Parts: sequence; C-alpha cells; structure tokens
Amino acid sequence: MCGIVGYVGPRPSTDILISGLARLEYRGYDSAGIAVIAGDGVLSSRKRAGKLQVLRDDLAAHPLADGTTGIGHTRWATHGGPTDANAHPHLADDDKLAVIHNGIIENFAALKADLLADGYAFRSETDTEVAAVLLGREYAASGDLVAAFRSVVARLEGAFTLLAMHQDHPGLVVGARRNSPLVIGLGEGENFLGSDVAAFVEHTRSALAIGQDEIVAIRPDAVEVTDFAGSAVEVEPFEVVWDASAAEKGGWPSFMAKEVSEEPEAVANTVRGRVRDGIVAVPELEGLDEVLGEVSRVIIIACGTAAYAGMTGAYAFEQWTRVPVTVELAHEFRYRDPVIGPDTLVISISQSGETMDTLMAVKYARERGAKTLSICNTQGATIPRESDAIVYTHAGPEVAVASTKAFVAQITALYLAALHIARVRGSLTDAEITAHVAELEAVPAGIARVLETEQAHIEQFASWMADTRSVLFLGRHVGYPIALEGALKLKEISYIHAEGFAAGELKHGPIALIEPGQPVFVIVPSPRASAELHRKVVSNIQEIRARGARVIAVAEEGDVAVLPFADEVLRIPLAGPFFEPLLAVVPLHIFAMGLATAKGLDVDQPRNLAKSVTVE
Ligand code: G6P
Repeated sequence: MCGIVGYVGPRPSTDILISGLARLEYRGYDSAGIAVIAGDGVLSSRKRAGKLQVLRDDLAAHPLADGTTGIGHTRWATHGGPTDANAHPHLADDDKLAVIHNGIIENFAALKADLLADGYAFRSETDTEVAAVLLGREYAASGDLVAAFRSVVARLEGAFTLLAMHQDHPGLVVGARRNSPLVIGLGEGENFLGSDVAAFVEHTRSALAIGQDEIVAIRPDAVEVTDFAGSAVEVEPFEVVWDASAAEKGGWPSFMAKEVSEEPEAVANTVRGRVRDGIVAVPELEGLDEVLGEVSRVIIIACGTAAYAGMTGAYAFEQWTRVPVTVELAHEFRYRDPVIGPDTLVISISQSGETMDTLMAVKYARERGAKTLSICNTQGATIPRESDAIVYTHAGPEVAVASTKAFVAQITALYLAALHIARVRGSLTDAEITAHVAELEAVPAGIARVLETEQAHIEQFASWMADTRSVLFLGRHVGYPIALEGALKLKEISYIHAEGFAAGELKHGPIALIEPGQPVFVIVPSPRASAELHRKVVSNIQEIRARGARVIAVAEEGDVAVLPFADEVLRIPLAGPFFEPLLAVVPLHIFAMGLATAKGLDVDQPRNLAKSVTVE
C-alpha cells in the first residue's frame, strides 16, 4: 500500500510529484504529502490528511517554494491513523531530511525505544518516522547520505520501500526496497522513482526495476544501484508498454466506468500474439514446456477478484489439461503447510503483481521446489520477478481500486496457459484447441454487445435499488465464482451486504435468508451446454421466487425458460460454457457501479480499501 514518487532534474518538481501521486492514488488515499528542496537549498514539506485533492487545494492556496528535487507520498494507514501528523514525508535532522515509506517496519518499536533513550523526540505514531530519525542520527555522524541510508536500511526488518533526501544534497534522492515495490524512470537529464511505472509514464517509458534488497541513488544525470552491502548491481532496462493516456479518465465519469468499457480490449489484447494458425502458443511459456509436460498438479493462488478469476478458469484448465487443479486464497495456502514439490505448478494471479499475501505464497512455493507461473498485469512488478515464468495480461493500467477489466483478462490468460499446456501434453487435439480459440476470440465482441444492449437498462434498475440493504448472487459451475465476484464488487464499492452462493448450496442454508423483496441475481447456464444444469438452476429460481425473492436473471439470448420466474432478465450473447462467465460478469460489474453511483459514492476509491495491498 502507499504510493511513492521521487524526482530529480531541471524541472520544478511539485507538479511532477502531484501528477505522479494522482496516478498512484489507487494505492492508498487517506493522506498525502510532498517535500521539495527549493532553489535556495532549503527543504520544505506539506502534508495533509484526506485525499490528494486536499493537499492540492492546500498547495494552491499556499504554494511551497518550488525546487527541482522532491519526493511525494500517498498513504494507506498502518501505524497511526490518517492524520496530518502521521502523513508522510516525515522530517528529521532539524527538518533538513525527509523520508517517505511504503510497508511496515516490524522492529520499529525497539528502534524507537533506542532513539527515545538517546533523547530524540517524535511527532507522529508512525514506524516511518523512526526510520527518518535514525537516518538523521546516522547522517549527522557521517555527512554521507547514501552511506547513512545504507546503514539504516540494513537495520530495518519487515517490508519497505523508503525514499529519502537531504537539503545538503540537492539533486539526490535515495531509495531502497525490500518486499515492496520501487521502479526507476530514466529521463533525459532527469530521473524518477515510483511505486510503479504509472508514476512517471507521462515523462518517460524507459524504466529499470530494482531487485529485492537493493538501494538506488538517482541524480539528474546518473542512476546508481547497489545491494545493501554497497556492491554495484547491474539492472536491465525495460520499455513500458502502457502509454500515459491509457492511465487517464478520457472523458469517462470514473476510471471504473472506463475500465468496464475496456473489458473487450482487455480480452482481445491478452490473446493477441499468442495464437498462431488457430493454435495457442504462448511464447513466454515455451522455455517451460518440458516442465509443463510433466507437472502432476496445479495450484492457483490469488486474493480478491484475482482469486475468483482463478476459480473461474480452473474448471476449463482441469478439463483441458487433465491435470488436477485446486484454487486457494494465497494467505490460506501459505500458512497451512501444503504438500508441494517439483511436480507442482503454482500459478499466481495478481493484477498489481505486488499483493503481499500472493508474493509470500509464491516465494514459499518456490522454496519448496514448485514451479511458479505468474499471471500479472503490471510490468516490472515483484511477483513476476519472483516467478519462473510470466504471462502478462494486457489489460492496460487499471486505476479504479475494484478490479474489472483485469478480471476478464486474467481468465483469458489462464485459458491461454491451459490451451498451451493441453497442446504440450496432448490432452486436446489441434481441432479442439482451434475450436476453443475461436470461442475465446469471439468473447470481445460478446462483451461489447452486453455493454451496448444492457448497460443503460442495468444502470436504471440499479438506481431504483439505491436503498437496497442486501443482495444475493447465485451460480453453479463456472457461474459460481461469477456470483462471488458479483457480490465482492457490490461490497467493495456500494458498501451493501452481498453474498455469492453456489446455487446447489441454497437448500443447505442460504435459502433461509430469502424473504419477500430480497433481490437475488442468478447466473443461468446455457441450456445448450447442459440441459440438466440449466434445469437445476431454473428450479432454484422457482424455489427462491416462491419465497418472495426478486429475481434478476443473467441468461443467454433466447433462453425463455427463465421468463416466467424472473423480475428482470439481463441478456448475454451465446457462448461456449467456459466462455459464458466472461460475458456474465459484465452485467454484475455494471450493476455494482450503477448502484454505487446512485448512492453518490466514489466508485474509484472506496473506503478502507487499496488496490495494491502490500501488507500481509
Ligand atoms: C485488493 C483489491 C482487490 C484485488 C485484490 C488482489 O484487495 O482491493 O480489488 O482484487 O487486492 O489484487 P491483485 O493486484 O493481486 O490482483
């Protein structure tokens, strides 16, 4: 959590820092702050509780003396509530030194006790200020900022990205990372630091990813990366594929509205370049073909929406590859002593590539000899760097905290990986693979059609439901994780009690929740794929209808069996059974967004959440 940005160069830094923070606000938004070293060599800082706009307004009313070296931070509180005092930067060494931090310093209490005993005082409750004061003490002894920083970070335990600058050294920002992200943007006569490339993509698309336990010092014309011991480290540059406009709202009322509208391209772009003559060949997996031919089980790990993408994709994955697949929440997997080894393929799914729970589970799996494949949307992120292979989802930057377009891209990537493995293992014929590819390639047009034909209708009835206090979602087979995703989206952005159930489980408990007027979304499977499954879901609809539920059915075009029992029917185009979920989720995303909007809520930045959860 927390977004971090740093700048050194010839330009005034305040605007660069604020626009970088705006792109990182998805990482936390309970307070924000910047520090700059002004032309007269004096460090000044401003920080405010609340969203970035509060800081912006404050700076507009009372501008800081601008300078060309600066750091900025947007916070998701861990130690200490979201107040002005706890906001970053934290200052030390008579306010000549500024530090920002993402993560948790686990040994901060012991370090703080030491510093208090030495007579140092603190102005906040944060772990970060401890690092700042410690750095101030070290720096005062040596006058060498890089060496002092190195000695401080080596003493910290936990997860952290730290940036620091001192007014004695204009034109220098130092940074370090351990289990928390930091990337460098390389400019002409200027350089940048950011939690991810979104922080600087409007200025440069040339980037360097810093490895675990490394330190960087940026100056306008130099970038120096070392390990914590001070030895130089070689870092490979990479080209950022996102362009700056992709991370702009572009006239949409919210990032989420824009991102839902981009669901068709998210699928199409993820498929692009991975199909040759109707056969899936994922170039990023080719080096692993021997291993993929031999693995005897697959475990998919992820959190939140990414976990539901994993659950959805697992049905086809197992059927196509004939390898047993289980799906687990990363934080549960990590702490249950699972039986894994070299025959296990662990597939992590993460939009950000930084979710700490998922990262720790990947490292754990790797340490036990499992092969690891990362499905990720963010270049240069930590999870792909810690994995044996990467299949990027090409959904483009996702800014709204609640995930939408990344979800459909993640299922797409899983399908591509499954079809690739099925080819390697010979568990599907070329003709079968080609048929599935054709169905996958039809998905973008199907999603576009749902958006075109259903969006206005869904938004309208969502607005009528603004006072609803509880919504249930039912699905079977691949419809079940879609029900879970529909409920999660509603919880995240509408703050309404919502639950998803496997429709078959209804009679074992959840049916007791049904009372007159209770809205229930039901994901209805196609009768063409399985008449039996379809019949069972239609029976479930009748059961809840008989108890007064208000039924909103998501059903394929032409399915008339639901008409007598549904209050609303949301139509999706015909698709193969494994491809329906990619269409059925779209009305649920639109609904959650419509309801949150009708309640007057901020759909992009829901309360208490952050997009990239870098604490366990
Ligand atoms: C957070 C976000 C969710 C997201 C989950 C996993 O909890 O609020 O929207 O689904 O993290 O994120 P990832 O980046 O790993 O996909």
